[in-house]
Amino acid sequence: MNNRQQTLLITGGAGFIGSNFIDYFTKQYPDTQILNIDKLTYAGNLDNLREVDQRPNYRFLQGDIGDKAWITSIFEEYDISGVINFAAESHVDRSIEDSQAFVESNVLGTLTLLDAAKKDWEEKGELDIRRFHQISTDEVYGSLGEVGSFSETTPYNPRNPYSASKASANFFVKSFGYTYGMDVVISSSSNNYGPRQHQEKLIPTIISHALEGKQIPIYGDGGNVRDWLYVDDHCRAIDLIYHKGHTLESYNVGGGNEQTNKDMAAQICSLLDEFVPEYRQPYSISSYRDLIKFTEDRKGHDRRYSVDDRKIKQELGWKPAVDFHEGLKKTMEWYVSEWKNKQTL
Ligand SMILES: NC(=O)c1ccc[n+]([C@@H]2O[C@H](COP(=O)([O-])OP(=O)(O)OC[C@H]3O[C@@H](n4cnc5c(N)ncnc54)[C@H](O)[C@@H]3O)[C@@H](O)[C@H]2O)c1
Repeated sequence: MNNRQQTLLITGGAGFIGSNFIDYFTKQYPDTQILNIDKLTYAGNLDNLREVDQRPNYRFLQGDIGDKAWITSIFEEYDISGVINFAAESHVDRSIEDSQAFVESNVLGTLTLLDAAKKDWEEKGELDIRRFHQISTDEVYGSLGEVGSFSETTPYNPRNPYSASKASANFFVKSFGYTYGMDVVISSSSNNYGPRQHQEKLIPTIISHALEGKQIPIYGDGGNVRDWLYVDDHCRAIDLIYHKGHTLESYNVGGGNEQTNKDMAAQICSLLDEFVPEYRQPYSISSYRDLIKFTEDRKGHDRRYSVDDRKIKQELGWKPAVDFHEGLKKTMEWYVSEWKNKQTL
């Protein structure tokens, strides 16, 4: 890659969604140069990019989006045509334990990127042409009761330190659009599922605990509802929003698959019963469902998220393509295969 070719800067690309996005994008746009910068926190894993690593339009650099001198040097060295900011501390439970890193990466890191992009693009006279796309979450809107959905105009009401940091970052992103005329856009998606998610998250935990015969922990009464979006569908949505979304707008991206946590766990256990019944033999259980155990609830646990995503559907023509059952099956197969590989190492 020639450093002065126009380059799209992706941050946090060694994580779950970022790595799936880079895989998708490098194939979809072979003539676009991608620079992935990632701090490689506990959540970042270069193995997630092993299929992408050798592609001629891809390059990786390790570093922190909050490191001002380093981020400035990236904009000096590369001709950054746009930024898609995935980098974040992303686990709600960790934010409840200690929120410092969430402010540093999610808020100050985003601000550092915005500042560097603004300075460089202003000098080039292209502040309103080059785009800053912030990857956000439906969690910024707060929690719903049994009915209703969040639209893009729902006021933010974050209820845990993770969502507070993501909401704060969004305010900074919007402020750079209003104050300086920078071309900014925000997408807020519901819960993603698919390959390469960190072990600590709900679906990988359900699968690994089941295969190892450990109790499958589900918070509270298991009735908390999340809307699930297959990660490939999210990647297509980000592509559309980055290329065609209107400046200063936010777009909700949903999967149309609301599930309680306990139903999600039961469905995954049924898939495991069907596809890998042999691994439950040592544990004397008739179904992996027998391992589900309700535990003390997460503090301030949001009850239900649901997004109204008619805007992206109507304005940009996006819709999810992956059927929920098919997506869940593909996801389960991927984690089972990774788990088997680890057993043979
Ligand atoms: N996973 C979801 O269901 C979901 C849903 C909606 C929105 N999001 C958002 O999407 C983005 C990606 O989420 P994910 O699930 O892939 O997260 P993840 O935790 O799997 O990956 C985050 C990546 O960011 C990197 N990172 C963290 N801090 C950094 C820093 N200061 N500098 C550089 N790199 C840093 C990590 O090393 C990791 O590779 C996040 O912004 C998250 O808020 C996630």
